[in-house]
Amino acid sequence: MTAAVLSARPGAPLSGTVKVPGDKSISHRALILGAMALGRTTIEGLLEGEDVLATARAMRAFGATVTRTGEGAWTVDGQGGFSEPDDVIDCGNAGTGVRLIMGAAAGYGLTATFTGDASLRKRPMGRVLEPLGRMGATWLSREGGRLPLTLRGGGLKGLDYTLPMASAQVKSAVLLAGLKADGPVTVTEPEPTRDHTERMLRAFGASLTVSDHNDRRVITLQPGARLSGSPVAVPGDPSSAAFPIVAALICPGSEVTVEGVMLNPLRTGLFDTLREMGADLTITNRRDASGEEVGDITARYSRLRGVDVPPGRAPSMIDEYPILAVAAAFAEGETVMRGVGEMRVKESDRIALMAAGLEACGVDVEEEPEGFIVRGTGRRPLGGALVETHGDHRIAMSHLVLGLAADNGVRVDEPGMIATSFPDFAPMMRRLGGDIAEG
Ligand code: S3P
Repeated sequence: MTAAVLSARPGAPLSGTVKVPGDKSISHRALILGAMALGRTTIEGLLEGEDVLATARAMRAFGATVTRTGEGAWTVDGQGGFSEPDDVIDCGNAGTGVRLIMGAAAGYGLTATFTGDASLRKRPMGRVLEPLGRMGATWLSREGGRLPLTLRGGGLKGLDYTLPMASAQVKSAVLLAGLKADGPVTVTEPEPTRDHTERMLRAFGASLTVSDHNDRRVITLQPGARLSGSPVAVPGDPSSAAFPIVAALICPGSEVTVEGVMLNPLRTGLFDTLREMGADLTITNRRDASGEEVGDITARYSRLRGVDVPPGRAPSMIDEYPILAVAAAFAEGETVMRGVGEMRVKESDRIALMAAGLEACGVDVEEEPEGFIVRGTGRRPLGGALVETHGDHRIAMSHLVLGLAADNGVRVDEPGMIATSFPDFAPMMRRLGGDIAEG
């Protein structure tokens, strides 16, 4: 049974070397491309969190044979396309899962109905349905393009599409649908977003070009390529590594190394920002793992100062603002985080929940429509709150990290949701010496 509440209290310094689970973005993509491809895809280091397991089940429902062969080791035997599922596809809490799978499914002449948990059913799907509709897919959804919805795919046309927001999920959905279109698909990004889909499509045999036009990234995919099953080694998730790293920075006397963290430059905005705040972070053993750079990151307790985070950096750290806000609560001075309106449509409204949680812990926070400002005093926050996470894994983990260094600790509700992205979070923090317990 999952605990109703988890609590974190300050204690001894954190120390040790850990590995974090495989990257969530790459894990979803490996399963989906594996199912679209012909032949066997072997995956090492797959994140076995609830979000990705929901995608694995979905790929079975679309006709692939998906088998777990060991810890993090999976094979996907794809049949070279999707067949019609005979039941509703439940993507759980996973926005990436459902949006990418809808894009992939739209290419095939099939009808599929998608749903998810209470959080996912509130999130906007129109951003994906709109370009898929322009390509020729049809759907029937709840008000505002919300799940559950039924999508009918097949017979797609090519498309030249400028993303209205910086979203790797929307870009990826259009590219995956484009594999089956009758002409090329071009996607122009307002800001560069994570490029895992582009990299993996190439590795699986798709033909794709990337260029820069007036500072905007333009990706063009030629349709018709036959994807072939390929090996994928999933590197450590920088979004998960962020939690032990910030914990080490704010707990006096700590030194923690996280091994094998993916360092794709479109994902490392948090580490750049922490360094600007004065964080003692060193990266060693940089190497290549399946086409992605990885390295070992060592974080030591540091006195942090507030910074102005450049809004253009947001896509490279969009999931890391909650934990950055925690670091900011321990810094001296203001940390200004603007241009992050997308945070409001994640698993929860993350601006509102971080502001509420930090304020309940005695931190001065100012909320703006598209951002927030955390005013740190350089002293540790009081803590002592029971934080409502609204079922958002990153809100839960961020506040537990805060509790490891706040005077009176912190408690969070619905800790079971942490398993969506980081099932081993609490045991791993305990192995580093963190005092995280039930109740
Ligand atoms: C993701 C893209 C981002 C991110 C999400 C994972 C992906 O979402 O927040 O956790 O794997 O493509 P958006 O595309 O909505 O920005």
